[in-house]
Order: sequence, then C-alpha cells, then structure tokens
Amino acid sequence: MLNHEKVINSLKHVEDPELHKSLLDLNMLRNIKIDGTKIELEVVLTTQGCPLKSKIKGDVESALNKVGATNVSINFGYMTSEERTQLIKTLKKEDPNESGVPKILRPDSGVHFFAISSGKGGVGKSTVTVNLATALVRLGKKVGILDADIYGYSIPSLMKINYKPTMIDKTVIPVISHGVKVMSMGFFTENNPVMWRGPMLNKWIKNFLANTHWGEIDYLLVDLPPGTGDVAIDLANLIPQSKEIIVTTPHNVASSVASRSGSMAKQIKQEVLGVIENMAYYVEKDGTRNYLFGKGGGEMIAEQLQSVVIARIPFARAEENHDSNVYDEDSLVGELFTSLAQDIVYREQN
Ligand SMILES: Nc1ncnc2c1ncn2[C@@H]1O[C@H](COP(=O)(O)OP(=O)(O)O)[C@@H](O)[C@H]1O
Ligand SMILES: [Mg+2]
Repeated sequence: MLNHEKVINSLKHVEDPELHKSLLDLNMLRNIKIDGTKIELEVVLTTQGCPLKSKIKGDVESALNKVGATNVSINFGYMTSEERTQLIKTLKKEDPNESGVPKILRPDSGVHFFAISSGKGGVGKSTVTVNLATALVRLGKKVGILDADIYGYSIPSLMKINYKPTMIDKTVIPVISHGVKVMSMGFFTENNPVMWRGPMLNKWIKNFLANTHWGEIDYLLVDLPPGTGDVAIDLANLIPQSKEIIVTTPHNVASSVASRSGSMAKQIKQEVLGVIENMAYYVEKDGTRNYLFGKGGGEMIAEQLQSVVIARIPFARAEENHDSNVYDEDSLVGELFTSLAQDIVYREQN
C-alpha cells in the first residue's frame, strides 16, 4: 500500500533537470492523489513547450514505480506569471541580494574566475575555453562558461548546442553541455528578448552574470572578445579577483598582439595566470613534431608579462573530436587539457 508519506519521500529526490532543485521544493508537483497503487498528480512546468517535459515525466514515473506504484498518471500544467515570480524568489533565496550585488560577483562567492583572452581572433581562444571547461568537469568541478565574445560568439557552435536556454521571466537558466553550464549571446540572436537589448549596450556583462541562474559553480571561464576592449575592462572592474589566461599561436605577430592584451591586464591589475600556446605543433604520423607556425611566441609573451607558458596544445587531428570541438578525453589534446586543468586546480587550492 502506498501512503502519502512514502510517495512524498520518493518524490523528494526528483529534481528539475535545469534548476537542480527538488520539484517538490519548487512547488512543481501538485494535487497528488493516491488510490491503492495508482497515483495521479499534476506537474506544473515553468513554461509552455518546456524542452525537458518528457525527462521530468520519466523521472517522476520511475521514482514512483520504485516505491510500488503500478499506475502513474501525470497531468501537465504551467505556472502563472505570479508563480514564476515566486519561483525566482525561491531560487534567489540562496542569494540574499541585500547589497544588490549578485552572489556570484561577491568576493566571497568562492568562484574561481578566468578570463580567456587573446590579441586577435582565430588563435583558438574559444576552443581553449570549451576544452579547459570540459577538462575541469572531468575532475569533478562545477563549471560555467560565459561567452562574452558578444559579436563573435562561437561557444554554442563549438559545443554543438542546438537549443535555447529556458527563461523564467528575466532569469536565464544556462544550457548544460558536456557537463558545463553555458551562457552565450548566441542564444539571443533570433527573437532577441527585449531585456537583453538595453543592458547589452551598457554593463551588459554584469547583467549577463547577474541574470543567469548559475547555481553552484566552482570555475567560471569567460571567453572574452579578442583584443583589449571594454569588455575586458568591465570584467576586471567587476571581478577584480579574476585571472587572465592568454592564448596565442607560436608565431610572433600573434604573440605581440596577445602581449598587448596581457599588458592591459597588468595595468588593470589583473593577475595573469599564464599563457597557452595553441596550434603549437602538428604531430606527424611517425610521431615527429612539425612546427608549422614556428616557435617561441608563447615564451615571448610570457617573458614580457613575467608569466609562464602553462600549456602547449598541438593541432588536433580530425579523429580527436567526434561531434564538436570538444576533444575526446583520451586523445592527445584531451589529455593535455586534463593535465592543464589539474595544474590549475592545484594552484587554486594551494
Ligand atoms: N589545437 C587546435 N587544433 C585544431 N584546430 C584548432 C585548434 N585550436 C583551434 N582550432 C580551430 O581553429 C579555429 C579558430 O578557433 P577558435 O577557438 O574559434 O578561435 P578564437 O576563439 O580565438 O577566434 C576553429 O575552427 C577551431 O576549430
Ligand atoms: Mg572565439
């Protein structure tokens, strides 16, 4: 026989796949009726056309079947706008917000911020961002990417993300891809919500950070636009504790531009964690390294910035990534990113 307590206990652990909170706590399960081993209940979704409807349905059913329900009937409903407002309040409870400073931006948030920058585009800044992020996930870290390359955003396509984030009023629930919470301007190009237009022009990076429900995060990687623009300065002002990772290719031209962005980081007193030399070499079939783009660029910048080269990433072969620019864990490039992530975690914890 099923009783109310048993049913509630089994449902307690069913979470909203995006919000990572119990559906019960979010007040999304209602009108639970128990008749022997038959259960009827209402699942109230945040928005119509919620992409995760069938996942939620499956999770609720399997939780109830486990405790002996033989027949589960779910009626779907949708929250009213007042209910959504209430939900946002619940989500923000973890964030008292009295000072008006979003939790993630407070110095005591415990989040490690890294700004990934480069002097010019096309050097692999975004590729480094997604692969470092996924390597940190492999180490068990909770990771977010903020794609702040506002006009040249490419994170959604590099990770092959082909759906939009859920919005609950003005709060965006980041898309999770390869275990990483992703927020990108690229999600808002078609039928761009009004709220993003104003803030975009002014302090949009703050809004981007503040209006996203990041939840628990250990590492947030910010993919900056190339060069030494306003976005980098805004970010440095907003999150002075963020550290910069500079990406360059081995040739000198790319390096001298990259070093300018590093010098700027120094001027605005942002710590430079290190330099990553990308496309550093190509590994031939016989294992020899072919330095297609020359050598020394990474070292040159590191010297100028009194920093160090923290990784040299070779050209990836086509077989190293199957469906996106996230390189396989057991590929050469994947392994290099894992060890880079280990180094970074070690430094941050010591
Ligand atoms: N190590 C690498 N091996 C092979 N291709 C790479 C590598 N790094 C970057 N690329 C490719 O180079 C192009 C530019 O990289 P991207 O990360 O978009 O650069 P950026 O963000 O600096 O503009 C992309 O097509 C990407 O797939
Ligand atoms: Mg890019």
